[in-house]
Amino acid sequence: VTLIAAIVPAAGSGERLGAGVPKALALLAGEPILAHAIRALVAEPRVGLVVVAAPPGLESQMERTTRGAAGGVPVRVVTGGATRVASVSAALALIPTDVAVVLVHDAARALVPGQVVAAVADAVLAGAPAAVPAVAVVDTVRRVGADGSSETLDRATLRAVQTPQGFSADVLRAAHARTGSTATDDAGMVESLGHPVTLVEGDYRAFKVTTRMDLLLAEALLADSGEAS
Ligand code: CTP
Ligand code: MG
Repeated sequence: VTLIAAIVPAAGSGERLGAGVPKALALLAGEPILAHAIRALVAEPRVGLVVVAAPPGLESQMERTTRGAAGGVPVRVVTGGATRVASVSAALALIPTDVAVVLVHDAARALVPGQVVAAVADAVLAGAPAAVPAVAVVDTVRRVGADGSSETLDRATLRAVQTPQGFSADVLRAAHARTGSTATDDAGMVESLGHPVTLVEGDYRAFKVTTRMDLLLAEALLADSGEAS
């Protein structure tokens, strides 16, 4: 029985990175970003299935990339949607009913450490309906009003949320079945159903590769850890 399945939304275009290919296929230390993300997920031995949402037309290419990185863990690929939420919904439809826990992980968070994946999985297996990794915010953040006025928020009360986000499979299905949600991530959707979201310790290395600068940072981290060799 598959205990944990991982959904990897990888159907975005990567406009801000501007690599000329969808971001998940952009090369990081000579390999697609997607391959790094899949390796990070399957390093968690309880992950028994990976479902990737791919851009239309790139399903078979992403399937090859994913299979190559998944180390024998079963892989499925679906066509993603116009939004991240739609891509996760499409992948969720392929998760068998005997899966208890689903991790949703951005392909773009290619270098998430294994401890973060394990901590999220542990929290959901221990009974949390939803668990997300979070880190302290390094910048001071101001809230800007419609009239242009602004105020400083208390940084000590803020956290930046990463992935993988972990869910009881039933709770995630219920959240995606409810249409009209304006939440931008799965934890927000689950929260709007009234479920608590447990925070676990994130890691700055789980940052989302968004811009060219992020890609350079990821290359440097890999070179530093020796993984790129
Ligand atoms: N994603 C997805 N389907 C979409 C949009 C995004 O599966 N329709 C995925 C991306 O592939 C990425 C993750 O959601 O792994 C986080 O999104 P983001 O970092 O914004 O990636 P992109 O949307 O590709 O980048 P950009 O916004 O710069 O175009
Ligand atoms: Mg985007």
